[in-house]
Amino acid sequence: MEEAFASNWIAPLGPHVDAFEREFAAAVGAAHAAALSSGTAALHLALHRLGVGHGDEVLCSTLTFVASANPILYQGASPVFVDSELATWNMDPALVAEELDAAAGRGRLPRAVVLVHLYGQSADVEPILAACDRHGVPLVEDAAESLGAEYRGRSPGTFGVFGAFSFNGNKIITTSGGGMLVSPLPGEIERVRFLASQARDKAPHYQHSTVGFNYRMSNVLAALGRGQLRVLNARVLARRRNFALYAEALSSHPGLSFMPEAPHGSSSRWLTVVLVDPLEFGATAEDARRHLERANIESRPVWKPMHLQPLFRDARRVGGALAEHLFRQGLCLPSGSALTDDDRARVIETLLATPRRAERRRSRRGGRPALATGRAETPPASSEMAP
Ligand SMILES: Cc1ncc(COP(=O)(O)O)c(C=O)c1O
Repeated sequence: MEEAFASNWIAPLGPHVDAFEREFAAAVGAAHAAALSSGTAALHLALHRLGVGHGDEVLCSTLTFVASANPILYQGASPVFVDSELATWNMDPALVAEELDAAAGRGRLPRAVVLVHLYGQSADVEPILAACDRHGVPLVEDAAESLGAEYRGRSPGTFGVFGAFSFNGNKIITTSGGGMLVSPLPGEIERVRFLASQARDKAPHYQHSTVGFNYRMSNVLAALGRGQLRVLNARVLARRRNFALYAEALSSHPGLSFMPEAPHGSSSRWLTVVLVDPLEFGATAEDARRHLERANIESRPVWKPMHLQPLFRDARRVGGALAEHLFRQGLCLPSGSALTDDDRARVIETLLATPRRAERRRSRRGGRPALATGRAETPPASSEMAP
């Protein structure tokens, strides 16, 4: 960054952008990469390049952050949300295949599939890619949360026509804000760079023949990204260590279980996510979140599925019950790479000290614990647990 300032290459573009693209592509094993202003911009340009437009449908994971789905709306298309599978919590390959077969039968295939790799874990890409290839539907991977993960020895995000990454402030490495779009197709990435720079034609005067976007990354932020790339492996180790220590301390506890790691790869464990079964634990995930909050510890609900969002109330969906279950019971624990043993110990101790509903009732009434007799309280409705 000092070099970027000293050379007065601040923005737009500059040598650090080119170097960051090269180094990032090498790090994830992608052929080509374009550095952009955000992961959302990367997804938007991917759908733009695929010609997604009015009247089109695009399949998208339902359990995700809204940034996966918003670009579908930017392009005027309609999302169709697909449920998760238990092994990865990501898009269910069987449901995608079924939906694509049915769509082919109806004579109306989706224009693209947006496959999200959530919380540091790769989706089961191969069967999804096979179903897409069978029907000629392009795959766009949203790997915003999964830089540093592996799927069969490769990085998620490098299997589809396009893969999007994010360097937002909360990600495993950050440029404060930023993103990267990768592709095996050199012509596509060249076109993306052009579109992301206001689509300025090659001419000394300012000439434009097509609509463009202001989506390029600045030279200063690319310099930051190059520095961050050097600590990626250390960050993955730190995040995996967080997970291992949380799991060691908590997984034998009744009612607590963790996001699984699918056998096809290794998760970066960007976030450690615990499931709280209210019947077994005696309190809901939301009870635990509020208790942690009172101790000044920030935890977050699992993403509220897109098919439950008011924004997408009219969208079609394929299943959704598993994503709803994960939303109701899931809690993302503090997972920063700089957490200390003391920090984690405090989180663990506080989580386990969450007042149980039966205990609370008993202390209010001086009576017998309701949960001990099996009359458990139902967890709060989804709306109470909205992020
Ligand atoms: C799953 C997912 N997709 C896309 C994005 C968008 O990335 P950005 O914030 O860089 O636009 C994020 C995070 O912010 C994300 O978590």
